[in-house]
Amino acid sequence: MKYAVLILSMLLMIGCNKSTVQTSNTKFPTGQKLYISKCGGCHRLYDRLEYSSEKWDTIVTTMRSKAKTTSDEEKEILLFLKERD
Ligand code: HEC
Repeated sequence: MKYAVLILSMLLMIGCNKSTVQTSNTKFPTGQKLYISKCGGCHRLYDRLEYSSEKWDTIVTTMRSKAKTTSDEEKEILLFLKERD
């Protein structure tokens, strides 16, 4: 019984710490919205921390033809993706 309580509270703690791309606090809400709307249609929304800043540059350029982003939109998306807190 003791263990059940322990495991349950651990699960709760994990649950509370989980922040997704959609829920993360950001200084760049425009980029966040664009990322969700432009990049979430074909695959899951990759977490910002899954790739380095340099890698995001390459990825957003590669995805340009698929996501049909303008360079202004890409700037906003990259601000959001490269934000590290
Ligand atoms: C029209 C569909 C489509 C859209 C829109 C799209 N992607 Fe993708 N994306 C793909 C496909 C298909 C793959 C996997 C195959 C590949 O690598 O080409 C992929 C792969 C990726 C990967 C994994 C790359 C790797 O090296 O493993 C990332 C990260 C990614 N996309 C980010 C984005 C971002 C950011 C946007 C918005 C700017 C975006 N995608 C928009 C289709 C799309």
